[in-house]
Amino acid sequence: MKTHSFNYPKRLTLANIPTPIQKLRFRESAFLIKRDDLTGLELSGNKVRKLEFLLHYAKKLKADLLFTCGGEQSNHARATVFAAKSIGLNTKLFLWGKESTLADGNLFLNKFLNTEIKYLTKLEYDNVNSIMFEEKLKLEKAGKKIFIIPEGGSSEVGIWGYVKAFEEIIEQRNFNINSILTACGSGGTSAGLLLGAHLYGKKFQILAVNVLYPADVMRNKILELVENTIRKYSLKIKLDESLLEVVDGYSTEGYKNISNEKIKVIREFAGQTGIILDPAYTGKAFYAYQEQYLKSKNLSRTLFIHTGGLFGVFPKRKLFLQN
Ligand SMILES: Cc1ncc(COP(=O)(O)O)c(C=O)c1O
Repeated sequence: MKTHSFNYPKRLTLANIPTPIQKLRFRESAFLIKRDDLTGLELSGNKVRKLEFLLHYAKKLKADLLFTCGGEQSNHARATVFAAKSIGLNTKLFLWGKESTLADGNLFLNKFLNTEIKYLTKLEYDNVNSIMFEEKLKLEKAGKKIFIIPEGGSSEVGIWGYVKAFEEIIEQRNFNINSILTACGSGGTSAGLLLGAHLYGKKFQILAVNVLYPADVMRNKILELVENTIRKYSLKIKLDESLLEVVDGYSTEGYKNISNEKIKVIREFAGQTGIILDPAYTGKAFYAYQEQYLKSKNLSRTLFIHTGGLFGVFPKRKLFLQN
């Protein structure tokens, strides 16, 4: 595969990057981890990379208010709220969940900044895009300019954050990796990595651990995102679908839940490495990683990306303390 010439869209500088790749041990196996949990603090995790491109775009469109959505503990929603504040913008959130008297984790941080929140039931959330769009139309009639960021920041603009991360990985690489594993929710991280593999001419396998949507839905979402980006930016590449694998079966307990055996692995991992994985995404993805890729080989050729999510451990404190 050869590198293709292309230009990145413009972006803001929000993330502390490049993040390190570290060689660590879990149980008997050595493995490689990219610390995207270290992209920032209030603005931590994978979302910040996407927001660099998205917020530049929002500024270009002269937006004065952002809308975005997610679960009540959405890391993306919290990162958007904080990133927007750093450039003087407010965000309204559309969250799948309930108002709570003692908000915790990411929800607490959103409230800390007095963020306007509309709570939706799961059924309503299935139509969140039209709900946001209708409200945008209403406010725009009153003279406001709204920029909607879709779930997880996973749009044709946002996924460039992970094309850039792919570039970073191959530039940092003293390691003989041939695949990258990441947690997958809205699909933008995996889509960006997949697009990066094509643009940089590397036949890396992108392993996406689906935690929110069924495997077939997830696969289609990722491929569609890449195809749409290729079209939007007139990129001269043909998508090789075989480079994407959805690693299924690691969130059967449901997106908002986590099994005791995964909780145990998260605690054992923290005990061995000093690094905290989160219960919705990275804990499940690492569980898949250690089960599938670390057992057979010692130094895995599969890079694990820690995509952040630290604040999600707090609402689950009872489970962590019991296990
Ligand atoms: C901590 C964390 N890891 C991984 C993901 C998944 O990324 P994506 O939505 O780009 O698939 C998310 C968000 O959805 C997240 O918050």
